[in-house]
Amino acid sequence: MHLGILTGGGDCPGLNAVIRAVVKRSAQLDHAVLGIKRGWAGLVEGEASPLTDHAVSGILHKGGTILGTSRTNPFRAEESVQRLEEHWRKFGLDGVIAVGGDDTLGVAAKLAERGFGVVGVPKTIDNDIGATEVTFGFDTACQIVCEAIDRLHTTAEAHHRVMVVEVMGRHTGWIATVAGLAGGADCILIPERPFDLEEVCDVIRKRKERGRNFSIIVVAEGVKPREDSDLVTQDSRVDEFGHVRLGGISNVIADELERRTGIETRVTILGHVQRGGTPTAFDRVLATRFGLKAVELADAGQWGTMAALQCGQIVGIPLEEALREIKKVDPELFASAEVFFG
Ligand code: F6P
Repeated sequence: MHLGILTGGGDCPGLNAVIRAVVKRSAQLDHAVLGIKRGWAGLVEGEASPLTDHAVSGILHKGGTILGTSRTNPFRAEESVQRLEEHWRKFGLDGVIAVGGDDTLGVAAKLAERGFGVVGVPKTIDNDIGATEVTFGFDTACQIVCEAIDRLHTTAEAHHRVMVVEVMGRHTGWIATVAGLAGGADCILIPERPFDLEEVCDVIRKRKERGRNFSIIVVAEGVKPREDSDLVTQDSRVDEFGHVRLGGISNVIADELERRTGIETRVTILGHVQRGGTPTAFDRVLATRFGLKAVELADAGQWGTMAALQCGQIVGIPLEEALREIKKVDPELFASAEVFFG
């Protein structure tokens, strides 16, 4: 069999571990692997090269992706889909393993509907893909954020300041909730729960009354205030999937917190630091298991499926099942974090 592999959307620690697993397992099953460059853009533009055992040696621990990535959406123009189909035929592909988030996997699902052999691997540090208990990259991101919160704690305490820490999470607050819980955040704001700034001020004021002269407020980038959703973005440009660029809501929140409480407030936007660098052992193992499963699914001709983690097992599920709805933060988990607010 002649398989292709591509990585699309925002990068994520563990992508190289998937690529390595796909290439090594495919070789054992006598399948050749073509590395498609920069996500779906590589199939539209015809940019790809064979992936050998040598090409994937020494990449397990490296962040980023040796294939490059993009947010190219071929379905924006029928002409792009036609070029993608031409290159698919030209490369003699029997199937493509698409490693990505809901956008990349959405393209995979549409191609599967048109009869193309596609297998998905779920990827996002945001951990919001449905039907899989966790995505690789999330653990690494939480580790990075937790370390940052630990560091911010000591400086906040020294200066008697409020620290607002903005983390990634466009639609869901998984990173904010898990890293905030692990880091002992005094309040966590997530997109699933539009916030009331006065409640956050109360948390800070009550802590001060108890002699706690500092506070750590963790904010997911996609949060919305209860009363005014215009506060969310600072940039109106959109990507090919129509997503607005986020980042910066915490500046608005911090200014308002300082004004209302009178306590000096500082902002740290962790941004792409959360996506960079070496994956944790957990993410390397999960990514590797997903890669192995994707090859098995392709080998068995189970196209239109995705590797997923369910009850500790890696299983193959229909792509539509994963794309049906995003996975929101478990209310019980958030309630555990809430116990420590204030
Ligand atoms: O991968 C998803 C994500 O981490 C979102 O939380 C964030 O909004 C987005 O990526 C930002 O990515 P980029 O700056 O690469 O577009």
